[in-house]
Amino acid sequence: MVNISVLVSGGGTNLQAIIDKIESGELAGAKIVQVIASREGVFALERAQKAGIKGKVIKETEELLKELKAEDTDLIVLAGYMKVLEPAVIEAYRKRIVNIHPSLIPKYCGKGFYGKRVHQAVLDGGETVSGATVHFVDEGVDTGDIILQRQVPVEPGDTADTLAARVLKTEHVILAEGIKKVMADLPEKGGK
Ligand code: GAR
Repeated sequence: MVNISVLVSGGGTNLQAIIDKIESGELAGAKIVQVIASREGVFALERAQKAGIKGKVIKETEELLKELKAEDTDLIVLAGYMKVLEPAVIEAYRKRIVNIHPSLIPKYCGKGFYGKRVHQAVLDGGETVSGATVHFVDEGVDTGDIILQRQVPVEPGDTADTLAARVLKTEHVILAEGIKKVMADLPEKGGK
């Protein structure tokens, strides 16, 4: 079993997608051992509770590392996590941290590009195609190796909200696919 700690900061629809896909058997071999939120009161924590998964708010790196270790974490999934992880975490879980980003990296990513801002920038840039990316997390912001990417059309008349909703649907699909891919390559699963 691959133990996954999911880190969140918001509504948690990507978390829900992983929960649902584990339950349906689409993401067999994975177990969410805990959900860690960067702040109090996020709906993602309610989703965790409803699914019977341990949830907690953690703001400090020391405590985060301790909890990740305590739950025997194999893989960390950033599912709408709006904080940049400290190098100590990256170092401890190199190639074991996966992030979902709502654009086609290297476009519309990096510092300041998160959530709705990404989609507004895509619209302002006059793009006709956007998308989502699953990638490994390294010391930079959205600079880690790309695992999986999928295009989503920008439709005439789109607002940041309508585009976000369309991209989010694709995120839910490729996040699980990306996790599957990474799980297959984990050393303890016979991968590299
Ligand atoms: C998602 O669109 C995710 O890609 C984005 O935040 C949203 C979280 O939604 N993440 C970033 O922008 C990270 N740079 P969710 O809480 O419903 O999963």
